[in-house]
Amino acid sequence: MTVRETLLSARDLEVYFSVGKHILPGRRKKVKAVNGIDLKVYRGETLGIVGESGCGKSTLARALLRLIEPTHGELMWKGENLRGFDKATLARRRREFQMVFQDPSASLNPRLTIAQCIAEPLQTHEPHLKRKEVERRVIAMMDKVGLLASQRNRYPHEFSGGQCQRVGIARALILNPDLVVCDEPVSALDVSIQAQVINLLDDLKQEMGLTLVMIAHDLSVVRHISDRVMVMYLGKPMEVGRYDRVFDHARHPYTKALLSAVPVADPRIARHRKVQLLPGDLPSPIDPPSGCVFRTRCPEATELCGQKPPARSGSEEHRIYCSNFEL
Ligand SMILES: Nc1ncnc2c1ncn2[C@@H]1O[C@H](COP(=O)(O)OP(=O)(O)O)[C@@H](O)[C@H]1O
Ligand code: SF4
Ligand SMILES: [Mg+2]
Repeated sequence: MTVRETLLSARDLEVYFSVGKHILPGRRKKVKAVNGIDLKVYRGETLGIVGESGCGKSTLARALLRLIEPTHGELMWKGENLRGFDKATLARRRREFQMVFQDPSASLNPRLTIAQCIAEPLQTHEPHLKRKEVERRVIAMMDKVGLLASQRNRYPHEFSGGQCQRVGIARALILNPDLVVCDEPVSALDVSIQAQVINLLDDLKQEMGLTLVMIAHDLSVVRHISDRVMVMYLGKPMEVGRYDRVFDHARHPYTKALLSAVPVADPRIARHRKVQLLPGDLPSPIDPPSGCVFRTRCPEATELCGQKPPARSGSEEHRIYCSNFEL
């Protein structure tokens, strides 16, 4: 068996935001956006992270790369304590882990040309590079993401959402990072071009030897490209494992509900499928339900589910956070 290199790991990661007013700052209400996440990202894999809107995916993505500071927990990057990096070290090492953002148009500076947007990280991290070399690398990167060199002096507002996301991807990849975290990279795009952008990321991953974390609110987006998947709900993991285990042998009631909502192309299968609609809305992360946080919407919940945190069962290949072992 080959030993996989752990590129990034998180243990008991928490990110709380203080909100509202209180005379004593420590007594302000806390939004528990990420509330105890353990995960590993292995070199060369694609890890899909899925959960409905508001469950803490973007906060987790940012905390994993220290774009925001975690409140608690351990983060290891290539075996080093990422939370221990001082400002200068973090700025220098950022080139190793990059992010692709959800809203491509908003994440680009409207005053910079496409070429300038892509060149910016390169100029920050390799200021000694000659102008000609920067231009050469920018054009090579544009070609990789399917943009034409002749478009380099255009501005983001002249581009479609899909093209802007290609620029965002080029910007993230120009430094040749080890890891790219993509936060819902296609959710703001037209359905017709979503697959193109996902396939582009998958192709670039192979070509450049990248490791990807692909975040989506919809399981179908990560289905075909993930090696492993983590399903999360209200800041916590529900089910984590190899994609075939999670997709084909889902055990957690939340995963099953998400899977039942994924559209299927075959009308014969679609006709006999039962879509499991979850009652109610996502509870507030300020005051999450006791015990299992999913219990207020779980079709399998028992009285015990409110009394203690869900049991953790299975192995790293397929882990389930649920106390109902009869599922
Ligand atoms: N800066 C912030 N201050 C307060 N609450 C926040 C902040 N950022 C996110 N949240 C809250 O944290 C929860 C998780 O948000 P987010 O990570 O954006 O979820 P997702 O990306 O899954 O939609 C939400 O309830 C959101 O309102
Ligand atoms: S622990 Fe209980 S409430 Fe939570 S997912 Fe399992 S059955 Fe549902
Ligand atoms: Mg988000």
